[in-house]
This record gives sequence, structure tokens and C-alpha cells, in this order.
Amino acid sequence: MRKIIIDTDPGQDDALALMTAFGARRELQVLGVTCVAGNVPLDLTSLNALKICELSGCSDIPVYKGSAAPLKRKLVTAEHVHGKTGLDGTDLQVKKKEVEVTNAVDFIIQCIEKYRDEKITICALGPLTNLAKVLKKNPSVTESIEEIVLMGGGFFEGGNITPAAEFNIYVDPEAAKIVLKSGVKITMLPLDVTHKTLVPRDFLQKLRRSGKNSALEAAKLLDFFERYDVEKYGSKGGPLHDPNVIVYLLNPEIYNGKLVNVEIEVKSELTSGMTVVDWWNVTSRKPNVYYINDVNEDEFFNIVLSKVLNLEI
Ligand code: BDR
Ligand code: CA
Repeated sequence: MRKIIIDTDPGQDDALALMTAFGARRELQVLGVTCVAGNVPLDLTSLNALKICELSGCSDIPVYKGSAAPLKRKLVTAEHVHGKTGLDGTDLQVKKKEVEVTNAVDFIIQCIEKYRDEKITICALGPLTNLAKVLKKNPSVTESIEEIVLMGGGFFEGGNITPAAEFNIYVDPEAAKIVLKSGVKITMLPLDVTHKTLVPRDFLQKLRRSGKNSALEAAKLLDFFERYDVEKYGSKGGPLHDPNVIVYLLNPEIYNGKLVNVEIEVKSELTSGMTVVDWWNVTSRKPNVYYINDVNEDEFFNIVLSKVLNLEI
């Protein structure tokens, strides 16, 4: 069974990614959920991670608080997309569960060292601040990480927070640069693929009709989440970004991509946080990222649905 850590900033689509991973009990062992500031400030992303663990009947999975701000910049948040709480659309409460005392960065390092022989995979669903700190604090961990699979970036689709940049990379481009230069095997699921996974109506109906509380709450989250994209882009549904990371781990054969060089723009004011993808191999820069640009979206939604409905409550 693949051992993973999920680094995240919930967010409704992060919540669905967590639920998909929790529902994949036979394929994935979630060692911990580490939180970072992004969609909303750190106190809220951590609280939201606790809420989703309890909602999913996974209170035993530990949640850790990490970075409250990017490495060098002021935090930019996305309440305009996710609402004030980050999980608008629901009114979830935390009954018992609390965050662990260990910091997220230390937990990730300890975990990588503990499972050095098996090698763990890190799923990154938010700004890459925690991971950059891990790599800076203990550079030798790179040898013991199986893979970093991250949602971030965009090239053919442009950006969603500026014309050039995708939100997760834009919030902390210096951190993204450190991660991409680390030499660890990296798979990136950018907007080029996540904009193809637009939530279909019948997917929401199936969640609602399942009679399970977790699925019902997931549908409420997605109802809220999609209003932004539908209004702004006129798209047929909200793009379910972050679950792509989990579904990629479960069924990589439904995705297509290419091993390419990706660099992060950190200097320009106009294009800060842009992922510059050498798709046509026009430079001599070394490939460092498996860059995904296509998915079978019907299969994607079947997998998310089956894993969410696999949750016990
Ligand atoms: C990414 O930014 C956040 O708003 C989402 O949770 C996702 O991780 C998409 O650009
Ligand atoms: Ca996210």
C-alpha cells in the first residue's frame, strides 16, 4: 500500500481530495495531513482539515499545522473563491479532534526518515511553503521521497489568479522554485488538466442520493464552490482541481503528460508565479517535471465518486 502525506489548504476542492484519499483505504495509507496557509489563513485551513477528517470518519488521521505565511511574501488568500471560512456551503463543526503539537514541517521530515526504506509520496494541494521548508531544513530527505505529486501551475490555460499564474504557485513562487529544483521526482497536475474536470450535474445528484452524510456534505461544498467559476468563466461546472492529485496516484493510466523542464518566474511583477513549461523542448534545460495535460474526465469522476461513497459515514 502506498504511504502518503497530504499537504493542503482546505478549500472545498482540497476537502474532496482528502475524502477521495480517505475512501481509498485499500490503495493509500494517509500518514498525516499537513496544513499550510493558502485559500484561507492557517488557523482556518487547519480547522477545515480537522472538520473533513471527522466528517469522513477518519479522526485517527493526525493533522499538523505548518506555515502561516509564504517564505518571502505577504500571504494572498482566495476567499473570493472558497468563501470566508474556506469551506463555505456547509456548517461543519469539530467535535473532539485537535491538531497535533508537532509542526507540519518537522512531522514531514520525521515521517520521511521513519519510512526511508519504503519511501513516502507527498501530495501537495496548496502553496509549497511547507515542502520548501522541509527541503531547506534537511536537504538529504530528497533521497527518501518516492515522489511529489502536486496541483499547481498552468501553461496552455494561463493563470487563474493573474493572467500568467495559477494560485498555488503564485502565493509562494520562491517555495515552488525550491521544490522544482530539488531533484525529487515531481508530477504536476496544472490548470491545463484540472480545467477539464468540471463537476457534472449527475455527479452531484449521485452524491446527494447516496444517503451518506459525508457525500451529502461534499455535494453542499461543491454547490458553493462552482458558483464562482460558472459565473466568472461561464463554464458548465466548477473545476475539481485537487482531487486530480489523488486520482493520479490511484489510476495514472487515465492521464497523459510529458517529462519536461518547468521553471518558476520569481522576479517579474507582471508574470510572478508563472510556470514556464518547455513543452516543445526548445531549451537545453533539464527535464524536472512530469507535466500532465490530459485526463479521461468520465473515469476521473467515477473514481472520485466511488472513493467518496466508500467512506464509512
Ligand atoms: C488551486 O488553488 C486553490 O484555490 C485550490 O484549492 C487549488 O489547490 C487551484 O488553482
Ligand atoms: Ca488547494
